[in-house]
Amino acid sequence: MSEFRFLSVLKGDTLDPPPVWLMRQAGRYLPEYRETRAKAGGFLALCLTPDLAIEATLQPIRRYGFDAAILFSDLPLLAYGMGRSLDYREGEGPVLEPITDIAQIDALDLDSIPTKLAPVYETVAGVRARLPAETALIGFAGAPWTLACYMVQGRGGHEFVVARRFAFADPERFDHLIDRLTTATIGYLDAQVRAGAQAVQLFDSWAGLLPETAFRRWCVEPVRRIIAGLKAKHPDLPVIAFPRGAGPLLQGFVAATGADAVQIDASIPLDWAAHWVQQQACVQGNLDPQLLVVGGDAMRREIRRIRRALAGGPHVFNLGHGIVPEVPPHHVDDLVAAVREPL
Ligand code: CP3
Repeated sequence: MSEFRFLSVLKGDTLDPPPVWLMRQAGRYLPEYRETRAKAGGFLALCLTPDLAIEATLQPIRRYGFDAAILFSDLPLLAYGMGRSLDYREGEGPVLEPITDIAQIDALDLDSIPTKLAPVYETVAGVRARLPAETALIGFAGAPWTLACYMVQGRGGHEFVVARRFAFADPERFDHLIDRLTTATIGYLDAQVRAGAQAVQLFDSWAGLLPETAFRRWCVEPVRRIIAGLKAKHPDLPVIAFPRGAGPLLQGFVAATGADAVQIDASIPLDWAAHWVQQQACVQGNLDPQLLVVGGDAMRREIRRIRRALAGGPHVFNLGHGIVPEVPPHHVDDLVAAVREPL
């Protein structure tokens, strides 16, 4: 068994208590994070300044002793690495110059990624050198569909109608964009692994916006290609996929993609996940982040229910989506204690 509890569970071991980390575990709910971000002068500067990004990655590990750290960065940075503009405005999330035509897709500069994103790889190496021996390090990227949503729409939202219409109006042109993002993502994650990441997670946060055939074409197929490309270079690398909102389309997802673990959102029924996902792969999830805001007995009851339902196979405890800024930091102490106490 690996000395990392987290990695051994991704590889199929069942452990009690389950390893635990939380999506967006570094962030605005932590006062020390807000201080580090102020020191950087902005969010993008924070992501691109290794000393400060290393510090942000380590903050939640020091406070809570999670089983895994996740690289502090952001999903649209890969677009920046390919030469697209990227900006963060207070309270708005990422803002990019939207892609509108094929010439801009052809002009994406994959060769500039190693230089423009060198600070990200430096952060990975710096974090690994400073982490406790038993804490694993996760690298990450957006999955191509979700990255394309931001690159075509130009900003966040919940519907991404410009991106969906672009895809449906000219699927071959959209295939070309997805194809280039897939190639870029393999290189980006390979470099994170060479710098010290021991597992990677692919965030497909907007997978739930696509109907079945489009989901297979633009979520499943690129994720399959990325996993195959990474495993050709790193056969033992565990890959976690997060097709958020996929619902019943998760059935068959592991067989189709080769993912070692699937992050599930809070809407997925646990008995269903135990049968249709956990028989094939590790399940990571899925406490509703609002229960972490509420805390107390309501949170503890739900943590026990999730642990019991997924105790029969490999399970990594996590939220169903990222931590929100309103979370009181001591509720996270309570969560970790509840995940680690005897069932
Ligand atoms: O601790 C960690 O999990 C590591 C860092 C991390 C961030 N973003 C930091 C961040 C990770 C893994 C991400 C992934 C990410 N980024 C996703 C996928 C996960 C998901 O939430 O679905 C997506 C969709 C993004 C894009 C993004 N970045 C949005 C929509 C926003 C704005 C919303 C918000 O929370 O403000 C961001 C900004 C962002 N990414 C922040 C952080 C800490 C807040 C920026 C700030 O400090 O002002």
